[in-house]
Amino acid sequence: KMNAYVTGLMKKMTVDEKIGQLNLVTGGMAITGSVTNNGIGDGVKNGTIGGIFGLYGVAEVRKMQEAAVKGSRLHIPLIFGLDVIHGHRTIFPIPLGMSATWDLDLIKQSARIAAKEATAEGLNWVFSPMVDIARDARWGRISEGSGEDPYLGGRIAAAMVHGYQGTSLKNTDAVMACVKHFALYGAAEAGREYNTVDMSRLAMYNYYLPPYKAAVDAGVGSIMSSFNVVDGVPSTVNKWLLTDLLRKQWGFKGFVVSDYTSLNEVTNHGLGDLKTVSARAINAGLDMDMVGEGYLKTLKKSLQEKKVDMADIDRACRLILEAKYKLGLFDNPYKSLDAAREKSDIMTVANRVAARSAAEHSFVLLKNDNQILPLKKSGGSIALVGPLANNKRDMLGTWVIGGEWEKSVSVMEGIERVVGDKVKINYAKGSNITDDTTFIKRLNFGPGMVSLDKESPEDMIEDAVKAAKRSDIIVAVVGESQSMSGESSSRSDISIPESQQKMLRELAKLHKPMVLVLFNGRPLTLQWENDNATAILDVWAPGTEAGNAIANVLFGNYNPSGKLTTTFPRSVGQIPLYYNHLNTGRPYTNGPTKFKSNYLDIDNSPLYPFGYGLSYTKFQYSNLKLSKTNLKGNETLTATVTVSNTGSYTGEETVQLYIGDPEASISRPVKELKDFKKITLQVGQKKDVSFTITPDKLKFFNSDLRYDWEPGKFIIEVGTNSDITESATVNWMK
Ligand code: IFM
Repeated sequence: KMNAYVTGLMKKMTVDEKIGQLNLVTGGMAITGSVTNNGIGDGVKNGTIGGIFGLYGVAEVRKMQEAAVKGSRLHIPLIFGLDVIHGHRTIFPIPLGMSATWDLDLIKQSARIAAKEATAEGLNWVFSPMVDIARDARWGRISEGSGEDPYLGGRIAAAMVHGYQGTSLKNTDAVMACVKHFALYGAAEAGREYNTVDMSRLAMYNYYLPPYKAAVDAGVGSIMSSFNVVDGVPSTVNKWLLTDLLRKQWGFKGFVVSDYTSLNEVTNHGLGDLKTVSARAINAGLDMDMVGEGYLKTLKKSLQEKKVDMADIDRACRLILEAKYKLGLFDNPYKSLDAAREKSDIMTVANRVAARSAAEHSFVLLKNDNQILPLKKSGGSIALVGPLANNKRDMLGTWVIGGEWEKSVSVMEGIERVVGDKVKINYAKGSNITDDTTFIKRLNFGPGMVSLDKESPEDMIEDAVKAAKRSDIIVAVVGESQSMSGESSSRSDISIPESQQKMLRELAKLHKPMVLVLFNGRPLTLQWENDNATAILDVWAPGTEAGNAIANVLFGNYNPSGKLTTTFPRSVGQIPLYYNHLNTGRPYTNGPTKFKSNYLDIDNSPLYPFGYGLSYTKFQYSNLKLSKTNLKGNETLTATVTVSNTGSYTGEETVQLYIGDPEASISRPVKELKDFKKITLQVGQKKDVSFTITPDKLKFFNSDLRYDWEPGKFIIEVGTNSDITESATVNWMK
């Protein structure tokens, strides 16, 4: 039916109208790039615009949709997109935080809520999920992904796609997802934004491509090309990537959109002028051009000069019209434009409760000496210090176009709500986010505007020290501001800014219990903090309900269960540092030794490994049992471990399964995550947790890029994180 409808429509379209469908414009907001489009109203009526992004709100969207449907010759509806990344109006934790929940239902639900809110404001397309694997914490966009693991990344990608797209794209509360950035964007050299990527096919197939593939398999409607080169060819014009791999090998049926002016930027990569690169892009498989108008301005000429085939323009046009068809826009272009829903479905109490719960589940307890946490809800006094303690602006994190920071809950407000006047709170800001004015100039973009306080840095620290002297415990809320991670926010030094460290060093001299509540869009280097703070709770950027969630965890209303999905290095010099590394010919074993793969000045190990995260209770693992130790062919192996709650709180634990493949035709990672289960245990309770392992879990891409498993020895590991596991060996023959 769709095919016939679209074919019929395309028969009536002129070349200009077809090229118009490939043109995505942004309405006057330079939020996500530096170029914007003019003359949108006329373009819509002339049929030279296929979609608009950055425009939302029922009245605004209706106006534009009416202009397209009533005012244009063929009445083709527009598609309305936006960067809805971790919530639309009700903001959830940043994606890196969401991934730390290891809770696929919760992640899917967050995307569902985002879709409901986005459609309530007339949107039908979101530029999410971002699934770029990243092993380099200097890269600011590590905050927008799910960390370093391809398996977990793939599971999360699928959950997000299902959440956004719902049971049918035709539903009024469904949005089309757009998986990005295809491909390998997270591997920018030196972690520097928009930088070159150079990678072997083996690394691509085994570690970086699986999450995009998982999104495609989950039925994602669209995909965004990345800014970087893949094998020397910018993704946006890369035929191998966009056609051979994506369509022929993976069977992707949706459309490909460029990143913001990434088509125009191909000229900076050195591949020719706008006309040349636009012709190359349409031929490579790029369907829609975001903002740059390369297609609009040059494709017709290229067609006349026979540098472009009509078949390619038709292909792209068809895929975009099909997307609109799948969304039900031809049936009802106004399907989500309901002024009542716009009022009733946004920032609801239920959405805020879900965001709060997601935030609580995303926090990772990195350290908790002497069981200092949870704090007592009555009695005593707390010095609440740090530039993020009484701060609403920085609660939401990166990419929150629809997010309203004024509606977020600060840490101070959250704590006051939980303890009322039963605990004396002595507040002092203590420091600026940073005192570095050059850094501030580069940072200031978006809602999290950083500024210097009127008070001098010395006086601010003095105030914090005074507050601490009057208190039993120090709670220092420190770390990165909203704009210190995200797009174009690479850092070469990933420590807590010096202004805040100075404050912490003075506070440490008091030898009082000191709890750090850490805001961060990336792994930070925390060696000093780990050595000197009593406890560290990593809260990422928690979203609208930040303060309530943080207070709930600090005071024990929720027992933290988050686990890291990205390795925390001890020093920036160790980067890239990731758990699923190869063994090398001279592996590091016990302590630094000459002629082994190690540093002279630092241990190889991370400060906190992948999968790590503490709880207020204690979990003990014992008795790893394998159903067999010699297997053949398609047999199934069951690995069972007993997990006991030996502490004094009910708690959730993510039990992780890793497999090592030490005998293969290529060097394989020392271990790879293959499954996980999240369980809840009451005090004193124990549970047997089982994993079913089939040869599918042993497969990898070999030197011929053939996906299969190879017989031999395998190491099965089950544990609380990638470093601490129970392990056993099996032989698995073909
Ligand atoms: O979706 C984004 C992308 O992640 C980075 N560049 C801009 C796009 C549109 O805002």
